[in-house]
Amino acid sequence: MQDGMLRFSTAGESHGECLIAMVSGMPAGVPITQAAIDHELWRRQQGYGRGGRMRIERDQAHILSGVRHGKTIGSPIALQIANNDWKNWTESLPVGAGDPEKHKAVASPRPGHADLPGALKYDFPDARYVLERASARESTARVAAGSIARQLLAALNIQIASHVIRVGSAELDHPAAWEEVAALRDREEILLSCVDSAAEQRMKAVVDQALRTGDSVGGVFEVIAHGVPPGLGTYANWDERLDTQLAAAVMSLQAVKAVEIGRGVTAAGEFGSAVHDSIHYAAENEPDGHTRFRRDQNNAGGLEGGITNGEDVIVRGYLKPISTLRRPLASVSFATREEVKAAYERSDVCVVPAAGVAAEAMVALALAKAACEKFGGDSLREMMRNYDGYCDQIRRF
Ligand SMILES: Cc1cc2nc3c(=O)[nH]c(=O)nc-3n(C[C@H](O)[C@H](O)[C@H](O)COP(=O)(O)O)c2cc1C
Repeated sequence: MQDGMLRFSTAGESHGECLIAMVSGMPAGVPITQAAIDHELWRRQQGYGRGGRMRIERDQAHILSGVRHGKTIGSPIALQIANNDWKNWTESLPVGAGDPEKHKAVASPRPGHADLPGALKYDFPDARYVLERASARESTARVAAGSIARQLLAALNIQIASHVIRVGSAELDHPAAWEEVAALRDREEILLSCVDSAAEQRMKAVVDQALRTGDSVGGVFEVIAHGVPPGLGTYANWDERLDTQLAAAVMSLQAVKAVEIGRGVTAAGEFGSAVHDSIHYAAENEPDGHTRFRRDQNNAGGLEGGITNGEDVIVRGYLKPISTLRRPLASVSFATREEVKAAYERSDVCVVPAAGVAAEAMVALALAKAACEKFGGDSLREMMRNYDGYCDQIRRF
């Protein structure tokens, strides 16, 4: 990784003492509030079909470094989120040798989870340590880090929101406008984060069916970034393309198995004339944009050639169904090699809205990194001068 670039990493086990996020490369002078981080953490905990764990946790970020008097100071930002559940695990998951009798083994690997490949790879006798880190509890730390990125993007008037477009077989059957999706961020109760209440009820019925039958469901979420200027990312090198980075960022989330940009999936089956977004030049009196080059539609999802084109950036994530099943599939005992049922540990049944929130964080981090690369600057003031100068340049283009 290059020095100076916006980057982040996380640490922490699902039932360990806490989760840690570390964000480096943020310019100084970005206003940061803990309330904004905690709101994102709250949103990640919501959604119909979550398991008992989310009733134990009340996630809150503790800012340890890098922020003073309400603003970033250019040094690494360390964030800590405590696990309330840790008090129930101090003896079974100690840092020291502890009492091996208290160890809670995950005795038979769950198909679809990281249990078996993780145990084989790291030479563990059971899957306990695998799930402790493979678990999506880790995405809590990403959401905290992503909130820092969001607070930088806010200075550039870039906003990010997500919504759910499918849960199992139940689907939202019309496109959603940015305003509708953005309004979901203020909901005080999050059911399935769908903009259409009839579709949301159909989604709920699918989750109810999974709850009744001891099964699980996946689905599709869509993240929209609004207000993104043209020119973030580049085609110059494969790994600098913003679509490369967004796809990796969203694919890296637990249970995401496919990523789509714009109408990427259905476009593959259509003629070019039906897919590509015609260009026109806006009249003086049309509402303000970054440039007067405009599109009538946005099938490209705001990216052409790995560069943002000024339209909303639209990224979808496809989630497989949760792999821990109350009616478990066949597996094999790690200890005896006999055929047994897969292990069951308290689990979510549907996490599509929460995955959307985690994906918003990953998109925020990818966009903030691209913005830092494009506009540079060690302070927000310096960055804004560069941003304003560039906006002026493309407006006159
Ligand atoms: C927000 C969120 C919550 C999740 N909760 C669970 C869970 O409670 N039980 C479970 O088995 N998997 C859960 N998963 C999925 C697993 O973490 C994931 O399937 C597993 O780590 C294997 O990784 P993979 O699916 O990416 O291959 C969750 C995923 C997300 C995004």
